Amino acid sequence: MAAATPTMPAVQAFTITLNIRRFQPEVDQEARWQSFDVEVYSTDRVLDALHKIKWEQDGTLSFRRSCAHGICGSDAMRINGRNRLACKTLIKDLDITQPIYVEAIKGLPLEKDLIVDMEPFFAAFREVKPFLIANSKPEKGKERIQSIANREIFDDTTKCILCAACTTSCPVFWTDGQYFGPAAIVAAHRFIFDSRDDAAKVRLDILNDKEGVWRCRTTFNCTDACPRGIQVTQAIADVKQAILRGRR
Ligand code: SF4
Ligand code: FES
Repeated sequence: MAAATPTMPAVQAFTITLNIRRFQPEVDQEARWQSFDVEVYSTDRVLDALHKIKWEQDGTLSFRRSCAHGICGSDAMRINGRNRLACKTLIKDLDITQPIYVEAIKGLPLEKDLIVDMEPFFAAFREVKPFLIANSKPEKGKERIQSIANREIFDDTTKCILCAACTTSCPVFWTDGQYFGPAAIVAAHRFIFDSRDDAAKVRLDILNDKEGVWRCRTTFNCTDACPRGIQVTQAIADVKQAILRGRR
């Protein structure tokens, strides 16, 4: 007797409403909400729903994305009032009995629909010197040796994908665009606590500025927003402690 062919369970389809905050600079004086009904599957993410709208309903809808798998950091947006990556947010995990609200991240200049100008964010990142600065060269043909324990100290902050979800969820950043913001401090942390780096003092001086770590009010919004699970508030606290000690 032939074995029965196993059947795959059908993927459930349902219709949701997405309310998207649109801004088309050619025609709009200010941003406005637009509603779209879209059929999605239980396996779809918010990014899939946005693609479906763009490809099937309104080709002018604009948003950034690249990898679609939580690595490039280009599709951070506010989904139901919380900063998240659209490619990592499953629609079935949201309340689909209500419209889902999608808008651009806050605190950076809005360019178009879900796209903001990231330059102020990257300017703060560049200011903390996010690269290895070493006073000596490694021995010819050798690596710079680091113990497992020393590597562990900054392991968490190596995971940053520069999505800006943390910085643009920070109330201090919203009200004062001069604040370096959590992501820049995370980038600084990654090198300040690297035993192979010799410029910790330089970065600590930069972050001891009036727009540096002392602007942090420990609201934990940044930690909650981080799609990589980085303990952002802890990293900021580590840098504050290092400034007080005068060394890493
Ligand atoms: S710390 Fe997290 S939320 Fe902030 S930029 Fe890096 S990955 Fe994004
Ligand atoms: S598209 Fe790359 S992180 Fe979402």
